[in-house]
Amino acid sequence: MTERALQVTDLVAGYVAEVDILRGINLRVDTNEIVTVLGPNGAGKSTLMKTIAGLVPIRGGGITLAGQQIGGVPAHAMVRRGLAYVPQTNNVFVRLSIEENLEMGAYIQPDRGAIRAGIERMYTLFPDLRTRRRQLAGTLSGGQRQMVAVARALMAEPRMLLLDEPSAGLSPKLVGVVFDKVREIRQMGVTILIVEQNAKAALAISDRGYVLAQGRDRITGAAAELLHDPEVGELYLGVRRGLS
Ligand SMILES: Nc1ncnc2c1ncn2[C@@H]1O[C@H](COP(=O)(O)OP(=O)(O)O)[C@@H](O)[C@H]1O
Ligand SMILES: [Mg+2]
Repeated sequence: MTERALQVTDLVAGYVAEVDILRGINLRVDTNEIVTVLGPNGAGKSTLMKTIAGLVPIRGGGITLAGQQIGGVPAHAMVRRGLAYVPQTNNVFVRLSIEENLEMGAYIQPDRGAIRAGIERMYTLFPDLRTRRRQLAGTLSGGQRQMVAVARALMAEPRMLLLDEPSAGLSPKLVGVVFDKVREIRQMGVTILIVEQNAKAALAISDRGYVLAQGRDRITGAAAELLHDPEVGELYLGVRRGLS
């Protein structure tokens, strides 16, 4: 039996009183899967990630991580539960060097040797970061920053990683690099939930996917099925019915 890494059940959440942004979301991620969440702007994708990460209060339903309820667990306590979250924006410490950013990611690790080993693992995964280790994160390109943000999250050795639009604003070549890395990270034993605009590239490396619209999960299926679903195609893959 596959273990359920993450289960979101009838989740209702929002920022201000009386306004629900998530209006009953159901979603699951099995251990070692890559699952992609698609959806138009404003659908609630980032809100879903923030709510799972403990940054937005839950009004209804529940969230379990490896079978344990995490609804109501504050964001700072999530790392110890094995969950790491990479926000869509402002996800690096711009005034710190790459290496200092990585050290910050390991703040729950008291053992210097283990932190050093973690940094070495990240430099093996992202060789560019080793070369630039002393460079301030604020001076990096968008792609390099994204690598730093992901590496910093991995420094906590999470079992589950949430990535909010890791390829946003990157050139097509870099988009490919980012998704190759996501695949490598899964091979390290990490389960991954990813929000993306690059639907094709994300589904290509995913096991399953969900399409959110107006705070609800509207379509779900195997990634390969979603790639060929006419409705998904029309909305996200640039395919027009009756053409090509
Ligand atoms: N911090 C916030 N406070 C109030 N409303 C917000 C906040 N962040 C997002 N929203 C609202 O929540 C809705 C969903 O936004 P978001 O989750 O960012 O969508 P997506 O990531 O799918 O584009 C939007 O209507 C947005 O205006
Ligand atoms: Mg978003």
